[in-house]
Amino acid sequence: MKIFEIVFSPTGGTEKVAKIVANELNKKVITLNMLKRNSTLDKNQLTKDDVAVISVPSYGGRVPSVVSERLSLIQGNGARAILVCVYGNRAYEDTLAELEDLADKAGFKTVAAISAIAEHSIVRQYASGRPDTQDKDQLIAFTKAIKKKLEEKDMSKPQIPGNRPYKVSKLSGLVPKPTKKCVNCKVCATECPMQAIDFNDPSKIDKDKCISCMRCISVCPYLARSIHIVKYKAASAMLKKVCSDRKENELFI
Ligand SMILES: Cc1cc2nc3c(=O)[nH]c(=O)nc-3n(C[C@H](O)[C@H](O)[C@H](O)COP(=O)(O)O)c2cc1C
Repeated sequence: MKIFEIVFSPTGGTEKVAKIVANELNKKVITLNMLKRNSTLDKNQLTKDDVAVISVPSYGGRVPSVVSERLSLIQGNGARAILVCVYGNRAYEDTLAELEDLADKAGFKTVAAISAIAEHSIVRQYASGRPDTQDKDQLIAFTKAIKKKLEEKDMSKPQIPGNRPYKVSKLSGLVPKPTKKCVNCKVCATECPMQAIDFNDPSKIDKDKCISCMRCISVCPYLARSIHIVKYKAASAMLKKVCSDRKENELFI
């Protein structure tokens, strides 16, 4: 049995949760990274004996649109899937239900799902420092229960929350821009999962391609990208009420 970690994590929060779960299953993990389209997504031969931890962030209560296309490149071939949705302490709404449908279409058999919390990648003061020690302990306990289900070869489908049709997500439209500190090092353009940043001029952003994932801000070695302060403050104020109380991780098995 091989363990695959299939992950889309622009700013690293989803990856942190995915690693806790995958490494608790097995120290040896094969990672398929959905940040890049031209990776080896379609070359990996999963079999029904394998287990895949498929992890995505929640964007507006949905799976990021680009994940549908990239996940469809992977052939599940009946491998068992553990679905992981990571959100910024507001809500994840239909993300897990949509991920369940996408995993099903790609040929996986879902046996468990987890919702978990990580720092909000737009307004980082929300869920700051999460996943923390308490989260880690809880995620390890969840994974132990999943491991037992896998060992027992129990293929029963978990009851996963969410609506179909899925909610219509209203995304922020926040497009990060370079500040005066930008030295045109091109890290942002290289790392953008959507190739939305012009390689020669990082101030040129294709707004139709940008998914506001904030990866360009998080990878910039010069801290030279940001979103407009007024828009940032508006997003922060809007999220204050819904993001402030601590949400807990959940297991569906
Ligand atoms: C465009 C966008 C939309 C988001 N929508 C939600 C949301 O609906 N609910 C929520 O709780 N967090 C939301 N978040 C926060 C992320 O789900 C959360 O921070 C996640 O950990 C980011 O994953 P990453 O660190 O792997 O990029 C959103 C973040 C972005 C960038």
